[in-house]
Amino acid sequence: MTERMGEPADRSRPLVGRVALVTGAASGIGRATGLRLAAESALVGCLDRDGNGARDVALAIQASGGTAVGLTADVTDAAAVAAAISELVERFGPVGILVNNAGIPGAGKFIDVAFDDWTRVLDVHVNGAFHVTQAVMPGMIAAGYGRVITIASESVWLGNTSVQYATAKAALLGFTRSLARQVAGFGVRVNAVAPGPVETPMLFDNSPDEIERERATVLIGRFLQPDEIASSVAFLAGPGGDAYVGQVISPNGGTVFPG
Ligand code: NAI
Repeated sequence: MTERMGEPADRSRPLVGRVALVTGAASGIGRATGLRLAAESALVGCLDRDGNGARDVALAIQASGGTAVGLTADVTDAAAVAAAISELVERFGPVGILVNNAGIPGAGKFIDVAFDDWTRVLDVHVNGAFHVTQAVMPGMIAAGYGRVITIASESVWLGNTSVQYATAKAALLGFTRSLARQVAGFGVRVNAVAPGPVETPMLFDNSPDEIERERATVLIGRFLQPDEIASSVAFLAGPGGDAYVGQVISPNGGTVFPG
């Protein structure tokens, strides 16, 4: 069977020969995703504004037998993003899998939010996804293959985070659906993963009370683990993801049932 029909040539190495770029790869979900895609034989570019952290993840991937490079860029800086992607393409070849994961939380009640904080959150999530995705899309279209997987959040449905964060994540769902339609005919699949609360440094930005309240909302009785989100990303990146166009899958432990 061909990969297009949902079966990789080598089941144990579904991403062999693919170059993956993961943004925000130094920590949490991005780190787990870099490790997971490398374990499935992708060549991984670990990009983060924290360059040392990105290099550490690349070293951890290499130590486990995978292939990776650490890349330093702030996703809001189009020139830095372009330079990092050039470095990755030079090392490993054109990017076939992009995971738009870099993100920051927003703090405070809406009436108190400074405009600078509002724009910074939108800038990192939304404009960051624009810069990185636009930089890799021509190569994907030329190759007739691509996977763009953007990390959204279930807060789009629950409304349980800062307004600026939920607004940014909602924008990414529009980005996903609209872009998915434009590029599906070129072999490029664009989808999103909208996790529930995941045990990462971002979650622990909240107060202990908020963390306990949040834990109580998860029907499976525990926070999600970064690996579990990486699994969803790996599924969409792999042969099984070919059938998904503009979809949002939500590993959330039962916090919300969309639809
Ligand atoms: P984290 O704080 O552990 O990791 C985020 C990474 O993104 C960090 O390494 C940080 O340096 C990097 N980053 C932030 N701004 C950047 C920028 N401008 N340019 C480049 N890198 C940047 O957070 P976590 O939890 O792993 O979050 C990853 C993604 O998952 C984010 O988009 C977040 O909004 C989303 N998410 C997280 C959930 C959670 O409960 N932890 C739930 C739902 C979505």
